[in-house]
Amino acid sequence: MSRIYPIGGGKGGSGKSFVAANLGVLLAKSGKRVALVDLDLGGANLHTFLGLKNPSIGLNEFLNKTCTDLNAASVPTSINNLYLISSSNCPPEVSNLFYAQKLKIIRAIGKLPYEYILLDLGAGCSFNILDFFLTSKEGIFIFTPEPTSIENTFHFIKAVYSRKMNRIIKGEDFQKILQDIRSQSPDVVIRSPQQLFDLILSHDQEKGDVLKEYLNQFDFKLILNQFRKHTDGTIGKKIEKVCTRHFFSNFEFLGNIHYDERVHDAVSSRKVYMTKYAYSVTALDLQNIAERIIKDSTVPKVRSLGNQ
Ligand SMILES: Nc1ncnc2c1ncn2[C@@H]1O[C@H](COP(=O)(O)OP(=O)(O)OP(=O)(O)O)[C@@H](O)[C@H]1O
Ligand SMILES: [Mg+2]
Repeated sequence: MSRIYPIGGGKGGSGKSFVAANLGVLLAKSGKRVALVDLDLGGANLHTFLGLKNPSIGLNEFLNKTCTDLNAASVPTSINNLYLISSSNCPPEVSNLFYAQKLKIIRAIGKLPYEYILLDLGAGCSFNILDFFLTSKEGIFIFTPEPTSIENTFHFIKAVYSRKMNRIIKGEDFQKILQDIRSQSPDVVIRSPQQLFDLILSHDQEKGDVLKEYLNQFDFKLILNQFRKHTDGTIGKKIEKVCTRHFFSNFEFLGNIHYDERVHDAVSSRKVYMTKYAYSVTALDLQNIAERIIKDSTVPKVRSLGNQ
């Protein structure tokens, strides 16, 4: 079965595409069959991090049915075992996908024949981005040490939770509890997923436990990118702790990735960073993270998987 890792984080420019491309390269170099899917529908540029010019086919051909299935819309890269499904040739209106198109993409991703599938998401908290992030239970949040980036990441995590909780609530007949909450406390304003969770738990322990079980199935990952010399080395672990405490799921900090000026050189010369600067500190950071992902995916999960 494929391991699907959506890569998001809310903030633009944090390095989602850079990390997706280079982790894809490392996983492929370790002998795994890997697909990178560019789901930044308004600003696709994953191909550039892989040193490719605009691929001739991609998501657009899947959506307009020129390609019969999503895999037929993939192109090989310069790295053995690594394939790209690009959205660089999608017309601008595709960034506002219809609901049916989004479902079609999500279902097709689930059927792709690869060991690892990495989804590069755009910035922001639109429903499309949140739903792509929730394609799997193992989303990766990328952030930088800047307070604005950390802030946006927390917003993004909250948005992911609200979206997920709303879906569970709809699917699991929570309407009665919500009505009770509203009738007993008409002035209550629900400001966060944690508050909603607490209200549900205090009104109906059994339903609260159902919700807890769904949320407990998530194994989110955190990566701090653009780590600089004077950055506090404990930030990642601190954020992992805060998230685990507040969001009723597992959060695992996978590591820091150092800032390297040469990323710019690699992108500008359309070279794959991992190939051009394979022995840099940043490359080593990426390698450590790729190894943790491989190790993690060989450990069987003990928690049961739900169907939400
Ligand atoms: N570790 C790093 N060291 C130096 N530069 C980096 C690093 N990671 C990313 N960059 C640079 O930062 C910029 C933003 O990276 P990238 O495009 O991957 O971000 P993104 O999160 O995908 O942005 P968007 O949300 O706009 O798609 C790029 O110019 C990239 O080359
Ligand atoms: Mg990007």
